[in-house]
Amino acid sequence: MKIATQLVQRAEGVLKDAEPLTTPIYETTTFVFDSAQEVRDYNEGRSKKYLYTRYGNPTLTAVEQKIAKLEQAETAMLFASGQAATTTALVGLLKADDEIICSSAIYGGTLHLIADLLSKFGIRARFATIDEMAKPDSLISDATRLLWFESPINPTLRCLDIAAVANACRRRGVISIVDNTFASPINQLPLTLGVDIVMHSATKYLNGHSDVTAGVLAGPAGLLDPVQKARRMLGAILDPQAAYALGRGLKTLAVRMERHNATALAVAQWLSTDKRVKTVYYPGLPQHPDHEIARRQMRGFGGMMCIDVHGGYDAAARFFDRLTLFNRAASLGGVESLCSLPVLTSQWGHSEEELERADVTHSMARLSVGMEDPEDLIADLDQALGKEKEEMVDGKG
Ligand SMILES: Cc1ncc(COP(=O)(O)O)c(C=O)c1O
Repeated sequence: MKIATQLVQRAEGVLKDAEPLTTPIYETTTFVFDSAQEVRDYNEGRSKKYLYTRYGNPTLTAVEQKIAKLEQAETAMLFASGQAATTTALVGLLKADDEIICSSAIYGGTLHLIADLLSKFGIRARFATIDEMAKPDSLISDATRLLWFESPINPTLRCLDIAAVANACRRRGVISIVDNTFASPINQLPLTLGVDIVMHSATKYLNGHSDVTAGVLAGPAGLLDPVQKARRMLGAILDPQAAYALGRGLKTLAVRMERHNATALAVAQWLSTDKRVKTVYYPGLPQHPDHEIARRQMRGFGGMMCIDVHGGYDAAARFFDRLTLFNRAASLGGVESLCSLPVLTSQWGHSEEELERADVTHSMARLSVGMEDPEDLIADLDQALGKEKEEMVDGKG
C-alpha cells in the first residue's frame, strides 16, 4: 500500500487482550461492518452492533446502563442537554392537538419551550399552579396525553406528591414525566412511585462538576421507543467525550449527594434562625410547606435551597453582590457553591403573572450548596446578609 493509503487505515491498536478499568471513549462517528448481511441484521434489529454515533455509541451505552440502574429503569437515553431531552421526549410522544398539562411552577426553560415553541406545532398546553397540581384528578381532560412536572421545584423547592400525580395519570391513560434534576436518583426514585418517565438535566448533580452539558430520560423501553426514534432524527444525542466525563462524574454521585444533603441542611437550619431572612425554602426543614411530602418520597433533601429576603429585589441584589465564596452563577448541582437570582436566570422572561403562578418573587435568591466547609459557607452568607437589617432600619431596604 502507498503511504496515503496507510495513513487512513481503520482503527489501529484495538488490543483484544487489553481490558480497560474505565470506559473507553469511542471517538468515532461511524462503525465498520463486514458484509451487507451484517448491515441488514442491524437494520432489522437482529444485531447488537453499532452503525452511527448519532444513533448510539458504546461509551454512551455504558453510561446509559448505569443511569438506568440508578433510576431503577428498564432503559435510559442520553441527550446533548436537559432541554434536548425534554424537547425530544415531547416531540416523540406528542402530536398536533394533543394536550399537555404542565406545572406552572417549573424551570423557566421548560415552560417557555412548551408555551412558546411547541405551541407553534399544534401541541396544546395547559399550565397548573401547585394547588391545582395537588388535585390531579380534576386537572386531566379527555384530550390530555401527557403531564410534566418537577419535584422539588426550581427554584422554590416546593414538592408535589409524586405518587398521587402518577396514579391519577395512570387511571386516565396519561403519560407522566417528572424532572428529577433537583433531587438526583440518590435522594428520590420517581419510577418506584409510579411515574412513567424520569428526566434529568445531567448538567447538574449527575455530572456534578459544572463541566458537562447533558440530559437524560429513563423509563420503560416500549414507552421510550418513539423518543429513541426522535433522538436519531433530531440528532439530539450526547457526544462520546461528554458521555465519558458524565460517567466519571457519576462514580462519586452517592458520596457527593451525602455531603450536599448534610451541608445544605446545616446551612438551611442556620438561615432559618436568622431574622434578616424572611423565608427559607428547604424541604428538609419542618416548617417547609411540603416537608411531610418530601419526607415520604425523598431519602435526603439535596443541596438546593431558596431564600426570600426583606426589602424586595434591591435587597436580594445587594445580598447577591456581596457574596464572596458563593459564585454568582446560573446552574446548580456542582461541587462549587453557586447563587442566582431566579428573576434574572431560571425565570427570566416570565411575566408578572407567570412569576406569581410559579410562586417566584423578586426578592428570592437560589443557593446551590456545594462541597465547601459548611462553616465557611455560613460565614459568607452572614457577611452578605450583614448590613440588610441596618439598611432596612435606615429605610434603604
Ligand atoms: C430543573 C431543570 N430542568 C431542566 C433544565 C435544563 O437543563 P439543561 O440546561 O441541561 O438543558 C434545568 C436547567 O437549569 C433545570 O434546572
